[in-house]
Amino acid sequence: MKVKSILLASAVALAPVAALADITIGFSQIGSESGWRAAETTVTKLEAERRGINLKFADAQQKQENQIKALRSFVAQGVDAILIAPVVATGWDEVLEEAKDADIPVILLDRTVDAPEDLYLTAVTSDLVHEGSVAGQWLVDEMAGDQCRIVELQGTTGSSPAIDRKTGFEQAIAGHANLEIVRSQTGDFTRSLGKTVMESFLKAEGGENICALYAHNDDMAVGAIQAIKEAGLNPGKDIKIVAIDAVPDAHLAIANGEMNATIELTPNMAGPALDALEAYLDNGTVPPKWIQTESRLYTLADDNAAIYEEKKGLGY
Ligand code: AHR
Repeated sequence: MKVKSILLASAVALAPVAALADITIGFSQIGSESGWRAAETTVTKLEAERRGINLKFADAQQKQENQIKALRSFVAQGVDAILIAPVVATGWDEVLEEAKDADIPVILLDRTVDAPEDLYLTAVTSDLVHEGSVAGQWLVDEMAGDQCRIVELQGTTGSSPAIDRKTGFEQAIAGHANLEIVRSQTGDFTRSLGKTVMESFLKAEGGENICALYAHNDDMAVGAIQAIKEAGLNPGKDIKIVAIDAVPDAHLAIANGEMNATIELTPNMAGPALDALEAYLDNGTVPPKWIQTESRLYTLADDNAAIYEEKKGLGY
């Protein structure tokens, strides 16, 4: 019998601390495309262990079909709740309805879906549009009216961060005629594709004609830094670089003057998610549909060498 059913069937509330102990949660993770993703996986496993949760982990290897299979398997096993980081935004209605019919609460981690809100309990994410606009505003301020031809490395096609971070950036630079995105292509949030696509941008445009790179995550920026160096240019100086995540390698690149700014995305989505689940299972508290995590901008003004030292052992 599921924890929620037990609670609904009983008028007696369980002790709050025991709400999640010994329950089983399925976690459908996207894969391991980035350092940030690795850290989120580490933190989620630690948070589950700390709370005495039996966590069933499924790595989807970047494929939505694998995530749908994992969710169906979690439903068949009768887990008490499901966490999912959805690789793309669309195509979830049917499987989420199956979980709802089975009375299994689903919590979205770090990415949103285009599905009716009653199909999931809550979503723990940053404001993805805001992240893009912080990046765009940083460049607006940095260029102070100077002409700048920008190249953009997008995240996974169809994913909410790729869609929203693009929107936010475009909104921030709109009305600034000196700023123009001249090339934009997906690098799938990976370091290797970030490098490959940046090489093609440099070849197509000529490095001297690119003034800035906006990458939807740090891993792609770090790959691009390598491409820029191999082209004989100075990343962070000849080509300014702003990206998102604030992974340790980005702080190191900023400390080394090879990158200019990054916006932090906490890998701890599971903490707030499990707190919300605990309250829900314990006393029926329904969380807000969106639990927003913070987005902080880091630039050369921060002590990035020290931040790198603090973050490097945290599972990235
Ligand atoms: O959904 C969050 C994004 O996914 C991170 O910014 C990126 O690094 C990851 O792959």
